[in-house]
Amino acid sequence: MSSQKSIAAIPGDGIGQEVVPEGRRVLQAVSQKHGIDLEFADFDFASADYYQAHGTMLPEDWFDSLRGFDAIFFGAVGWPDVVPDHVSLWGSLLQFRRSFDQYINLRPCRLLPGVKSPLSGYGPGDVDFYVVRENTEGEYSSIGGKMFEGTDREIVVQETVMTRTGVDRVLKFAFDLARSRPNQHLTSATKSNGISITMPYWDERVKVMSEGYPDVVWDQFHIDILTANFVLKPNNFDVVVASNLFGDILSDLGPACTGTIGVAPSANINPEGSFPSLFEPVHGSAPDIAGQGIANPIGQIWSGAMMLDHLGETGASTDVLEAIESVLSSGDASVLTPDLGGRGTTSSLGEAIASTIVSQD
Ligand code: NAD
Ligand code: IPM
Ligand code: MN
Repeated sequence: MSSQKSIAAIPGDGIGQEVVPEGRRVLQAVSQKHGIDLEFADFDFASADYYQAHGTMLPEDWFDSLRGFDAIFFGAVGWPDVVPDHVSLWGSLLQFRRSFDQYINLRPCRLLPGVKSPLSGYGPGDVDFYVVRENTEGEYSSIGGKMFEGTDREIVVQETVMTRTGVDRVLKFAFDLARSRPNQHLTSATKSNGISITMPYWDERVKVMSEGYPDVVWDQFHIDILTANFVLKPNNFDVVVASNLFGDILSDLGPACTGTIGVAPSANINPEGSFPSLFEPVHGSAPDIAGQGIANPIGQIWSGAMMLDHLGETGASTDVLEAIESVLSSGDASVLTPDLGGRGTTSSLGEAIASTIVSQD
């Protein structure tokens, strides 16, 4: 047995509560196979139910309760009928990212075998890139306010914050990632023609950073035309680095180009390991399908694979990805969820992936 890894499980709201158990089922299967000792602890906070009971999203001691874990396995938060989204998200997930300095949000976009892209002419492997999203500052800032409220002169202001440390550290991560990939290509997303202070600053830092990476070919796009290029030429991208808001948008668009956002994973990483990193699907709580048992669990399961990778269990992580690909390739409509064209359920798909792991050589 390798040493024990402690994982905080936070399912959150809606389909978060449906996909997290499938993620755990797969993690359990792969851990058993590889002799990995994953110890889970369950938390009910960061949910609308908790908010209704306590009037707050998190208990006062949440930071100390979570900081000692090796990782956080997170579902999704948001139930706007009960608590406004900005209250629930600023009261939970965004606190985790900031307080645990998870300044990298790594989001792979890959067209997997057996999945049909809505874009014609692309097959498995043709689309395969990472969005590296800045995760603790940028447009997601709480600096601002409202003046002259309720009058015709009402003004609302919210500042974008870019620090040299914050920008340089995400660029360094992205350039390092690009250097490690066969195509060694980095794309930076900004909007420097319109947003005339922060965005040119980001461009300037990209240029400075690129000097340390002569082997990496890099380019930059304004975000508007970049979204067009994601749709028109998704195979042109390798590593795409972006500010918090632009990275958020690109990391829904990218997976949509690869068939469904239901498969997209993410890793909110504190690279220094001073705090736990958090692994969650890109998607949200999906109130429109919650409670039906039809949510695709692959985004959660793949996030589990990213967590294993982060914990140094690369063999187990590869096994999970291979099992996902094998089940998708089978095209078995009785197992696949409706977003993949099937008539299966969250648990039929989770079960199929877990049992593929058990039977893999
Ligand atoms: P969403 O990702 O929850 O849903 C968007 C669409 O994609 C819906 O039609 C949904 O049914 C579908 N979808 C999402 N995940 C799916 C899956 N696994 N399988 C099949 N279909 C899936 O985005 P939204 O509707 O904008 O947000 C709903 C709530 O979730 C809001 O409260 C929002 O703030 C929150 N949210 C949370 C997170 C997070 O916790 N990281 C991320 C995004 C949105
Ligand atoms: C995501 C989500 C969150 C974000 C929301 C729910 C605050 O969309 O993880 O992509 O914008 O970061
Ligand atoms: Mn998002």
